[in-house]
Amino acid sequence: MSTHPQPQHPGEPGRAPVTVPRLAEMKEMGEPMVMVTAYDFPSARVAEEAGVDIVLVGDTAAMVVLGYDATTPVGMDEMVTMASAVRRGLRTPLLIGDMPFGSYERSNEHAIENAQRFVREAGVDAVKLERGGPSVERARAIVSSGIPVMGHVGLTPQSASALGGFKAQGKTVESAKQIAHDAHELQAAGCFAIVFEAVPAAVTEALMPHIHVPVIGIGAGLSTDGQVLVFHDLLGMTSGHAPTFVKRYADIHDEMVAGVRSYADEVRTRHFPDADHVYSADEAAVAELKAYLDQGSLATSPWDW
Ligand code: KIV
Repeated sequence: MSTHPQPQHPGEPGRAPVTVPRLAEMKEMGEPMVMVTAYDFPSARVAEEAGVDIVLVGDTAAMVVLGYDATTPVGMDEMVTMASAVRRGLRTPLLIGDMPFGSYERSNEHAIENAQRFVREAGVDAVKLERGGPSVERARAIVSSGIPVMGHVGLTPQSASALGGFKAQGKTVESAKQIAHDAHELQAAGCFAIVFEAVPAAVTEALMPHIHVPVIGIGAGLSTDGQVLVFHDLLGMTSGHAPTFVKRYADIHDEMVAGVRSYADEVRTRHFPDADHVYSADEAAVAELKAYLDQGSLATSPWDW
């Protein structure tokens, strides 16, 4: 018999929608928060049925959906289109739209305008933006406009080139202090939660008592209030190298290849479509059609002018 506590199944019907105050309550009660990314209607349905608490339409879409090797190429229009599709598939989890590169850095007004697009056009509940420093003022402005904001510190992929690549952060005292200050300022600016990405577990553990809003980790150890993984990574929909923090809970890529390969084999050997996948027609009607065609009736068709 398992010695682990048996999890509830929060995907059951009747579950109350997850709100920002509910997340604060979960932190208070020590209930772990489950967050995943989603980028379309089917992935949103999966997140809903699996009973996750928070869904992020992440700018990782640029990499896992659009095929770029960075998150920076995706823009507001694409993000809003994806977030709208996710919204249509969700009822319960809190839905967060990830502010893409270039959508909030220029000014507070520009940041508010784009956060409002996410709310008005896609129906998200909150937005997320990356980094401390100048992003703190943007976060404060968006919060003041009435839209909840999630912060994101540590490895912030939009500034990966400035950080020297997709690398763990907080490994030196200076870098760990920077994460501490960024998180503290984002919290003071009114962020309702903060993502810690690729931060050594011991550093996160040292910082946790100083952060009073929910901290969601990705590669930040067990001491955070919750965990987030990219949908395609956790399900093994992507092949090739994955970051250290990715744990694969399924191998969907191989299953998809096997499925399409079986289909291709059956098409090539004329085993598909079989009798179960075709429509029937009245035999007499087919006989009459054939007789009509055999008379050369097509020669008089209006297309033969
Ligand atoms: O864009 C994204 O998917 C993210 C998560 C990895 C937190 O920011």
